[in-house]
Amino acid sequence: MSVIILGIESSCDDTSAAVIKDGVLLSSVIASQAVHEAYGGVVPELASRAHQQNIVPVVHEALKRAGVAKEELSAVAFTRGPGLMGSLLVGVSFAKGFSRALGIPMIEVNHLQGHVLAHFIKEEGEESRQPGFPFICLLVSGGNSQIIRVNAYNDMEVLGQTIDDAAGEAIDKCSKVMGLGYPGGPIIDKLARQGNPEAFAFSKPHIPGYDYSFSGLKTSFLYSLREWIKEDPDFVEHHKTDLAASLEKTVVDILMDKLRKAVKDTGIKDVAVAGGVSANNGLRNSFREHARKYGWNIFIPKFGYTTDNAAMIAVTGYFKYLDKDFCSIDLPAYSRVTIK
Ligand code: KG4
Repeated sequence: MSVIILGIESSCDDTSAAVIKDGVLLSSVIASQAVHEAYGGVVPELASRAHQQNIVPVVHEALKRAGVAKEELSAVAFTRGPGLMGSLLVGVSFAKGFSRALGIPMIEVNHLQGHVLAHFIKEEGEESRQPGFPFICLLVSGGNSQIIRVNAYNDMEVLGQTIDDAAGEAIDKCSKVMGLGYPGGPIIDKLARQGNPEAFAFSKPHIPGYDYSFSGLKTSFLYSLREWIKEDPDFVEHHKTDLAASLEKTVVDILMDKLRKAVKDTGIKDVAVAGGVSANNGLRNSFREHARKYGWNIFIPKFGYTTDNAAMIAVTGYFKYLDKDFCSIDLPAYSRVTIK
């Protein structure tokens, strides 16, 4: 009998649902929330309310596009955390009600594990190339920057992680300081393509091991900009592309220096990148350069699977279903948790 999983993702500001049948993605629907743009960042209460409005139509649409009736579902997989509590509660509560009404099991998914396993999303009729175990994954998003050793679908070990801000958060904050829109990541990426990455130098952290730190870069960017604006009030306008390119290069260098060290020390040559910042072209190019120079086998997700999506939750749910790794209905959402 076929295994059909409905995946639900609502950890931040995207309401998403996806359907996977026997490991093959049939549909993936994402409703993004434009309401936050005016505030320059995600407003948790507004996100939660928008999820409540979106969740039923998004699930309905995912089932419709998949051509699957709800009675055919084998299980509901949902993001339990980490994320914004008010946002998570909408997806978790929906999943509980849905699974209870249909009498099918529930599967809790760690959002970070979902990002890593996005590399195993298979689309219909598509030959996909997947990393072999063990592999190293650089997980970079608005809330996380981690180097993970992935031993199996359900066995991940964090080798290093940020001790303060995440890479995406730092980029978004610097972009805000420059008066650009939200989220800053895609805007900085676009501007950086036309700028000189060597134009400006910003401070890089010196911390041991595989851990990251991005708060110093944020401060260095802010203080440098303040000084330059004293000399030229239109400094940002005059140097927008060079500022973006130099900021991007600094972030990419910080990320890749530690990743290179982890790959060298572990001797693992399959190297993947995941999370929202993996959409960044500078980072993708650096991955390609490392593949050429150091013989890495690299795995870069499709753009659609870099940011938050339910396809990655459904595929993780599928693997957990095969292990009969179900959860009980009384599980709470959790806002803070890492990969064990
Ligand atoms: O994974 P994600 O959608 O959400 C979290 O779970 O955090 O990541 C969002 C982050 C934001 O900081 C956003 O600015 C960043 O990913 N981002 C990018 C790009 N696209 C999204 N950063 C750099 N370049 C991009 N092209």
